Amino acid sequence: MTSAIAGNAENPRILITENTAIVAPRLVPEVTLHLADEDLPLYRAGEDELAALGIGTPYWAFAWAGGQALARYVLDNPAVVAGKRVLDFGAGSGLVAIAAAKAGAAGVTAADIDPLAAAAMSLNGALNDVEFNVTTDDLIGSDDSWDPLLIGDVCYDRDIADRLLPWLRGLTAAGRKVLIGDPGRFILRGMGLETIAAYHAETTGIMEDSDLRNAQVWRFAG
Ligand SMILES: C[S@@+](CC[C@H](N)C(=O)[O-])C[C@H]1O[C@@H](n2cnc3c(N)ncnc32)[C@H](O)[C@@H]1O
Repeated sequence: MTSAIAGNAENPRILITENTAIVAPRLVPEVTLHLADEDLPLYRAGEDELAALGIGTPYWAFAWAGGQALARYVLDNPAVVAGKRVLDFGAGSGLVAIAAAKAGAAGVTAADIDPLAAAAMSLNGALNDVEFNVTTDDLIGSDDSWDPLLIGDVCYDRDIADRLLPWLRGLTAAGRKVLIGDPGRFILRGMGLETIAAYHAETTGIMEDSDLRNAQVWRFAG
């Protein structure tokens, strides 16, 4: 099958730069990212086409509503991260990590198990003239004294939420600040979370239920 997508998993820089446009998420105009927009083949590619190129769903090519809300919150409330060691878990494009670095974090680690996300966030960091550590390690269960931990739109399926939430709850009990950006998926209901900020985050229709999603920043209550 011939693909309209340039590059493949072996050439992450080409794959990312030639299949995305440099744009700012609506809610975070001070950050620019390599994102797939509706005019680009990557936006509409099916799983089979992506698999033939050696890539999975390109979460890194979208600024998810929860990540946009969290990035907005961090930029508007820099004291949350200023001078601190921040973890952006499930970083995707690196949007939240970039916001934390811009807001004055002493150090930022951006973690995503997708190697293409790691490549995308490095390119996006350079675009925004900020530096942060990037890892593809699965950090669930580990602890490197990060505080705060920022989680943008990662509770999109039951398996990951079942692993992620107990870890985050444990770190909260140990005194760490954990902030979750999410449009209020059913998976999070009944998990003891409370909203601390709410936003309208415009996202792309193919990845979300509607063009304009409400997204909140959540923390564990109590
Ligand atoms: C929906 S995207 C959100 C990306 C970004 N935070 C945002 O809001 O735009 C979720 C990301 O979580 C990553 N992810 C899933 N499981 C993970 C794990 N165990 N460790 C790190 N990242 C993970 C996926 O690869 C994906 O990039």
